Amino acid sequence: MAEQKEYRVPQHVAIIMDGNGRWAKKRFLPRNAGHAQGSRVAEQICEDAYNLGIKYLTIYAFSTENWVRPKEEVDALMNLLRKYMKDSIERSGKNNMRVRVIGDIRRLDEDLQQSIRRLEEVSADNTGLCFQVAINYGGRDEILRAAKRMARDAADGKICPEELTEEQFYGYFDTEGIPYPDLMIRTSGECRTSNFLPWQLAYSEFYFTDVLWPDFNKKELQKAIEYYNHRDRRFGGV
Ligand code: IPE
Ligand code: IPE
Ligand code: MG
Repeated sequence: MAEQKEYRVPQHVAIIMDGNGRWAKKRFLPRNAGHAQGSRVAEQICEDAYNLGIKYLTIYAFSTENWVRPKEEVDALMNLLRKYMKDSIERSGKNNMRVRVIGDIRRLDEDLQQSIRRLEEVSADNTGLCFQVAINYGGRDEILRAAKRMARDAADGKICPEELTEEQFYGYFDTEGIPYPDLMIRTSGECRTSNFLPWQLAYSEFYFTDVLWPDFNKKELQKAIEYYNHRDRRFGGV
């Protein structure tokens, strides 16, 4: 019993879902088949995460850098996101999930933007998992957009730049109001953050696994939480 008490579940987990393409390649399938499977896994992981006691989950679905991929792949990814948003508008009533999209959605097709706004609206008061999906998200872009809005407020006399605190500056971020991730997971063996949440991950624990995203499951998530439990978070202390 005592052991269970000490078990810490991270409040906020951020995931870089990587390896869809390699998963498909291994099976002689088109890359898009990997993305389709990856999106099913993402849905399942939301449920698993919540059942494990995680309150906030943020996933990297499409980066500001991903536009350079072949057009068919970008289109396929956008169609998956389109379907996800539409389905979730109905589903969010049942699963009680609050969904928010982070990133600059102005570059997305108008209909996708509309579905995103609608989903954010209908799920805003849900009290289950807080699920953030990063689309056309880049950490540097987020910081720059935050700085621009802050500069605008300063120019308008709404804030005094000299007195601005870290907390207030965070208020300009896409993830405003959301606690910083405790644990960041990246699948597929790459050990980099690829412009994901640079500000927010400053003090997070990092877990890298060779498992490809379409093979990720509840057991793998539990392994990451296990790893997290063996970390000693000192935050600069001794
Ligand atoms: C992650 O899988 C999904 C996105 C980046 C959208 P990848 O498509 O990057 O898969 P790999 O890295 O090529 O295997
Ligand atoms: C990071 O994966 C972006 C997403 C998971 C959406 P990438 O596959 O695009 O990252 P790099 O290119 O390996 O850094
Ligand atoms: Mg990749």
